[in-house]
Amino acid sequence: MSIKIKSDREIALIRDSCRLTAEILARAGEIVKPGITTDDINTFVHNATIKAGAIPSPLNYHGFPKSVCTSVNNVVCHGIPGSQVLKDGDIINIDVTCLLQGYHGDASRTYFVGSPTPKVRKLVDTAERCLDEGISVAVPGGYFGEIGNCIQDLADEVGYGVVREFCGHGIGRNFHEDPMVLHYRTKNRGDRIQEGMVFTIEPMINDGGTGVYVANDGWTVLTKDGSLSAQFEHTVAMTRHGPEVLTRLD
Ligand code: MF3
Ligand code: CO
Ligand code: CO
Repeated sequence: MSIKIKSDREIALIRDSCRLTAEILARAGEIVKPGITTDDINTFVHNATIKAGAIPSPLNYHGFPKSVCTSVNNVVCHGIPGSQVLKDGDIINIDVTCLLQGYHGDASRTYFVGSPTPKVRKLVDTAERCLDEGISVAVPGGYFGEIGNCIQDLADEVGYGVVREFCGHGIGRNFHEDPMVLHYRTKNRGDRIQEGMVFTIEPMINDGGTGVYVANDGWTVLTKDGSLSAQFEHTVAMTRHGPEVLTRLD
């Protein structure tokens, strides 16, 4: 395995896929309110994706049964949409991935259901800052390890746990490609970041320890200590001038 360098033509196609992904994610966020189910979000994302002529990448991916991941409260990632009813004060990460013109785009955000407490708002805001600052330290000629160093520093300041079992990833013709983009500090600085690389950064930040486990359904990832977990994800293309956030709508 090695990190693929994408041509300008390929990046243009990934840009289209990422724009669609970001639009569907934003629209899915608009339907979040107390009383809806996570299945309602799945139905919306599935239909919007198909209507745009794309395929929801999660559906049947290694057997995943739905078209989007919905991860509520102490669920870290890979939550399976179902009959769970959202209630005031919950948080929910919606993770959308589209396959359009042969290329994947991947993005997620954590949304508030109704009104959050200040403690919950701080967790979610910090998770988003971890993503934004992680992106900003990614530069051509730099190292992937700098992303994790930066994110770990931010989380440590507040005493939050950074999940270690799941990471960002290269993306393109495949949903998950090299490299693995770690969100925590390691001794190894990792691969060099080069122009033409396209990858995600998607830190999962716990209001507690770093530990997680997988539920009996084989997918749902939960915090070991029951703490809340928040996540944000963007797909980024490295240009000679720095990171272009392909899943950011302006
Ligand atoms: N979208 C997730 C990611 O950011 C992966 C979900 S895999 C699935 O990498 F099968 F659960 F959909
Ligand atoms: Co991803
Ligand atoms: Co994702």
